[in-house]
Amino acid sequence: MSGLPAALHAVLERVGQGLDAMELRDKAGTISGHYRRRGTSQGVVRTEADALAYAVTRMPATYAAIAMALDELLARAPDYAPGNMIDVGCGPGTAFLAAAERFKIGHARLVDHNSAFLELSSRLAATEPSTAVEHVRCELRGWEPVEPADLIICGYSLTELEDAAAAQLVTRLWRRTRGALLIAEPGRPADYRRLLVWRRLLVAEGATILAPCPHALDCPLPAEDWCHFSVRLERRKAHRAAKGAALGYEDEKVSYLIAARPDIGAPAKARVLRRPVQSKVRVQVALCGAAGLVNSSVPSRDKARHSIAKRLDWGDATEFLPDTSAGPIAAAEAAD
Ligand SMILES: C[S@@+](CC[C@H](N)C(=O)[O-])C[C@H]1O[C@@H](n2cnc3c(N)ncnc32)[C@H](O)[C@@H]1O
Repeated sequence: MSGLPAALHAVLERVGQGLDAMELRDKAGTISGHYRRRGTSQGVVRTEADALAYAVTRMPATYAAIAMALDELLARAPDYAPGNMIDVGCGPGTAFLAAAERFKIGHARLVDHNSAFLELSSRLAATEPSTAVEHVRCELRGWEPVEPADLIICGYSLTELEDAAAAQLVTRLWRRTRGALLIAEPGRPADYRRLLVWRRLLVAEGATILAPCPHALDCPLPAEDWCHFSVRLERRKAHRAAKGAALGYEDEKVSYLIAARPDIGAPAKARVLRRPVQSKVRVQVALCGAAGLVNSSVPSRDKARHSIAKRLDWGDATEFLPDTSAGPIAAAEAAD
């Protein structure tokens, strides 16, 4: 189960101490409802207390989703070592903080138009003292980074831009990417369809799609389906209190895309698109590969393949390729 690093959690608790618990809970409820209705941050995060409510209630989930995608990047490109990065639409600095846990980031530029978020991001960035962090207040529509960067991450930020502005920004960001461009978006059908548009643009620009896709061909999913994954994360005390939730975990649905320069790494042979279904006699695994979609049915008597198949989970990359097909894959689980 994923969670915020202890140092970051401790700073968040300290910053949040001055806030009234009821106020935090009210703000958290307003923010969650607003995002569920596809509202933008600008409409609901205006003060430092609002930004903190976001950090307590939403950031653990966006952090877990971005961290999962970064781990995929590392798995596909083990020698990749970005020294600098840009966090585009940084909010509290979520993508930077997740990247700094995994890479030695010497310089990071955190870009956002919301000063309440930028203010909080500078307090949280103090947990990464070895990175020189620059906070840039600017509007992303029409923006282009002056300097290129080894790693650029858009974490749940493009979803707040209109179709044309988001697509233009993706192209501009890619042209400034020296290593990899990671885009993470809410795991909803509409966001996935926009990711497909950006994926086509990036492939046309010569990008290698490192993950989740095991190929750069057109996405083989049928029109009514959408590619997304689920990340389980721990809900700590303040998170549970702010949400008024009893459960000690939640599942975040995310769609993502990692585009990279060709020398950075290579995609896996296949990707698991659903939670595998296990019975006593077989495991059924829905796989996406260069040959399309396959629902692989692996009987337990096929011991070598069965032992690989039964350890696979939704979202895993695998070199395991099916040789038995059992028809179309099941429909996707609904996103929250
Ligand atoms: C849902 S929040 C995500 C924050 C953070 N990246 C995360 O993953 O937790 C979206 C962020 O994008 C920023 N954003 C949205 N539209 C923007 C724009 N047009 N210009 C600059 N920043 C923008 C918001 O201010 C907000 O910080």
